[in-house]
Amino acid sequence: MNSPIYQTIADFIGNTPVVEVHDSLIPKGKKLLAKLEYYNPSFSVKDRTALGLVQAAMCSGRLAKGGILIESTSGNLGKSLALLGAVYGFRVIVVIDAKTHPSVIRWCEAYGAQMEMVHETDENGGYQKTRVARVKKLLEQFPEAVWPNQYDNQANPKFHYRTTGEEVAALNADAVVGSVSTGGHLCGISCKVKEKKQGTTVIACDVEGSAVFGGVFHSYLVNGAGLSWRSKNTDLNVLDKICISSDQEAFSACRLLAKDSGLLIGGSGGLVVCGALAWLNQSSSQTAVAIIPDTGTNYLEQIYNDEWLGQKGITLLSRAKLNECLKTKRILDIEEVRRGNTAHSPIETELASISE
Ligand SMILES: Cc1ncc(COP(=O)(O)O)c(C=O)c1O
Repeated sequence: MNSPIYQTIADFIGNTPVVEVHDSLIPKGKKLLAKLEYYNPSFSVKDRTALGLVQAAMCSGRLAKGGILIESTSGNLGKSLALLGAVYGFRVIVVIDAKTHPSVIRWCEAYGAQMEMVHETDENGGYQKTRVARVKKLLEQFPEAVWPNQYDNQANPKFHYRTTGEEVAALNADAVVGSVSTGGHLCGISCKVKEKKQGTTVIACDVEGSAVFGGVFHSYLVNGAGLSWRSKNTDLNVLDKICISSDQEAFSACRLLAKDSGLLIGGSGGLVVCGALAWLNQSSSQTAVAIIPDTGTNYLEQIYNDEWLGQKGITLLSRAKLNECLKTKRILDIEEVRRGNTAHSPIETELASISE
């Protein structure tokens, strides 16, 4: 069979592989499928999000070859937008902050993107507000530029509805488990899955410290998941259950999966695996599909480095201990989140307005 020839690297985005995980943590007779989003060209689910945002801007005529795109991001979306800028010939300005990992900066620069660094923290000690303020300043300087705004732009979940959602709905699974930051990929997937296969349970996973589903924000180590507010693209109407795990649980799951299954996943993937195992243990669901957002190669010096874990005060859990945690882990019904009946206090409204 001839291998397909793609016209550009962007045509290679999507259609990611699914691998069945065989692990003693999976209850007998049940199945865990891992959809590996790190098989996208920039090694994360954000290639799909970026393509959705860029296609929407290009179709509306707001972005074309020679145009300018500006976005605030300190992680995977910047890499993905920078890649698309190289493919379609538009200029990409990525607003980052002093905490952005140097490898992200080099990665984006390799694709020809311009990096704008903010150094000042906002009144909450974070950088999100100052990054958005810098985007707005840049838009004054480049009024013709496009700001995709991944948090509130419906093109984000809509693209996942049309693409990732179709791929997931084609799997024979009665539960879909994913992580949430903007909410774009999981909510888009969920809309499609619920349309095609009513009765599928969708479980959103987040990290302790994030305020997406309530509580007061505090810092955490897992990259990519969580936010200090709930963005418009997190639609509670399409989520059924919420599962919150700690950095320690997520990283322990990552390390076990790498060692025993050869799957090298990022920390948000660890959260998803914890959520899927907890759900398979505590429900009658037979098959869960876990959406794994990115690769562990992004975190070789962190999650996969014992010295770094030690410096951060993280002790990895044994298989038996992790299993015990997952069997008793609290899985919240979405109604409890709506009522603000989470383990934390209600979402901070002041932070909630950042994305406005
Ligand atoms: C590694 C990783 N995991 C999870 C997410 C969450 O995805 P979403 O913003 O679609 O909710 C992101 C988003 O940046 C990510 O980079």
